Amino acid sequence: MRPGPLRFGWLRPVGLILAAPLIAGALWSCGSTPATPSLAPEPPATGSTPSGSGPISTLRMVAGNRLIGTAVALPQLQTDTGYQEVLAREFNAVTPENALKWGPVEPAQGTFDWSGADEIVAFAQAHGQKVRGHTLVWHNQLPGWLSGGTFTSAQLGEILKNHIATEVGRYAGKIYAWDVVNEPFADDGTWRDTIWLRGLGQGYVADALRWARAADPIAKLYINDYDNEGINAKSDAMYELVKSLKAQGVPLDGVGIQAHYDLAKPFPSDIAANLRRFADLGLEVAFTELDARFQLPATESALAQQATYYGQTVSACLAVSACVGVTVWGFTDKYSWVPFSFPGEGAACLYDENLVPKAAYGAVLAALTARTP
Ligand code: G3I
Repeated sequence: MRPGPLRFGWLRPVGLILAAPLIAGALWSCGSTPATPSLAPEPPATGSTPSGSGPISTLRMVAGNRLIGTAVALPQLQTDTGYQEVLAREFNAVTPENALKWGPVEPAQGTFDWSGADEIVAFAQAHGQKVRGHTLVWHNQLPGWLSGGTFTSAQLGEILKNHIATEVGRYAGKIYAWDVVNEPFADDGTWRDTIWLRGLGQGYVADALRWARAADPIAKLYINDYDNEGINAKSDAMYELVKSLKAQGVPLDGVGIQAHYDLAKPFPSDIAANLRRFADLGLEVAFTELDARFQLPATESALAQQATYYGQTVSACLAVSACVGVTVWGFTDKYSWVPFSFPGEGAACLYDENLVPKAAYGAVLAALTARTP
């Protein structure tokens, strides 16, 4: 295990919180990508008023009891001080982008490496941030011994049970919510063909949730997926699954909606209705991986459209009391996953590659500021 919070001793949490408004104001006022006037936030009454400037704020200052989180990855957390400053100042929750996935955590069967996750958890604890755990059961980023192995159904079940028990147990009390199952559905709403479905049948979802609950009785347990923001075949499939799990008494607390938008597609108009139907089942909901990509180069009109996607998503969450918050999938274009998966596309985050806030940042700040307390 690597050193804990003292590793970040240069970032004294208390001093940082006190300095936050000043830093935020400096960044916001010198951004090279100005927000369009209609999207520029009215600064809230909270925040300090440095001489000669108006009141200023940060995302976490105006989030109230909602979570405003971001995915966090190494090595930037270890090496980029500008990244560390924005992360600590703006967000009240973090999700390790890769460090809790099966590949990094259990690279050899029964051998666990917590170093990356520990470092992120330590940073979060030092800065008063909650941690979402991502993810326990997924078809991607599996270690070779697992994805290339041959196992009986019983063996695969034991492997999964042991992985969940070990990982969730280790972070019990430190991780407030887990994406227990990630992306169980294909785009048409049928079950995704994965080693879990093939080896264990659809019951793997309920089993995974029960094993997670046994390892941590407090953590919020989620099923998470993408392209399910509005009401469509995929969100219908999720709805039927979670309704059935609740009816069976399976421990399930929430549904995660990733929200990886493509600006070439229209913004789904029925997000709030979709959130409400899950809430009506007694579940909480969260946007877990928000970003909005488009074809580069960036134009003012694309950045303005992107800002509306961000702002409307945050507003939809705030309109539904069961929506606990919004996590962005990385906050800076400097480290976004998008250009690697969608060549030619990018600029999907709140901040540009120089850590300058974009119009999308202003839209999120404005939406949070406008929330009803
Ligand atoms: O860490 C290794 C490094 O040792 C190696 O040298 C390098 C060579 O390619 O790969 C590094 O691992 C990469 C890892 O990110 C860390 O950078 C993997 O190749 C790469 O595939 C991995 O991509 C991640 C992707 O999930 C995997 O599918 C992205 O960072 C991450 O943002 C993305 O996140 C997913 C969510 O978990 C689920 N929802 C969709 C979302 C976007 O795809």
